[in-house]
Amino acid sequence: MALLSESNLQRWLDSATEAALAAGAVLQHYWGNLSRIDEKGRSGDLVTEADRGAEAAVMAVLERHLPADHGVLAEESGVIRGREASLLWAIDPLDGTTNYTHQYPFCAVSIGLLAEGEPVLGVVYDPIHNDLFRAATGLGASLNRRPIHVSKTDRLAQSLLVTGFAYDRRETPDNNYAEFCHFTHLSQGVRRGGAAAIDLAYVACGRLDGYWERGLAPWDIAAGIVLVREAGGRVTAYDGSPMDVMAGRLLASNGHLHQVMSHTLGQIKPLVLPPLV
Ligand code: IPD
Ligand code: CA
Ligand code: CA
Repeated sequence: MALLSESNLQRWLDSATEAALAAGAVLQHYWGNLSRIDEKGRSGDLVTEADRGAEAAVMAVLERHLPADHGVLAEESGVIRGREASLLWAIDPLDGTTNYTHQYPFCAVSIGLLAEGEPVLGVVYDPIHNDLFRAATGLGASLNRRPIHVSKTDRLAQSLLVTGFAYDRRETPDNNYAEFCHFTHLSQGVRRGGAAAIDLAYVACGRLDGYWERGLAPWDIAAGIVLVREAGGRVTAYDGSPMDVMAGRLLASNGHLHQVMSHTLGQIKPLVLPPLV
């Protein structure tokens, strides 16, 4: 796509960075200082003034910089414009809201750009640790402006993995519980970070070796997918086939562990727990 020239990607990366830092300032402002926490529908799916304020901050910056034909899909507002646009921004103003409300310091602003559905640019900003992850197709991935690379771990038994559980986990046998048990058994450990964008960013910079999850939205993962790929890792569907960012299910790894993780995911039978009383 001609529009995806290096200079355009660089310019949009800078705009996304400015937007992520502006939203991060909002998240720093409300940290430990929330006046209300609401549920969005499903039990546990929270929203706060920090989510909404951060999204407004992202949009204020992007509206100033972006061409009018770019589409925008933002978690709290839905489609702001152009769902069918060939260039679509996917924005999570606060990934890790549950962590944030508990002041568990693991959350981020995530801003990704999809070109014909394919993630091509991403910024993930953790305002608590001041970690700024950036990547664009062909331009590499960085953490605080220094290049990053995935880990070299090539044995599951020596790996540190991460996953997460969607808000619908009590309503479906596809709840990820059995997968969590299996990988816990086979690896050095499985973390449950609570912020998909950071889970992916940590695979990109080698702090974690692999990540899988289902029930995700495009704004959770668009940016992180680019980070992992540009840092030398792989991102696919569970079975290793090309990943569809709208399908909400992905396997990301340093590449070395991809096949064994994909094979393991294919073997697992669901673990269904009794309904809540
Ligand atoms: C959630 C986080 C979490 C993942 C959930 C997401 P939110 O995003 O990324 O790690 O397990 O599926 O919905 O609601 O905090 O923006
Ligand atoms: Ca999210
Ligand atoms: Ca969110």
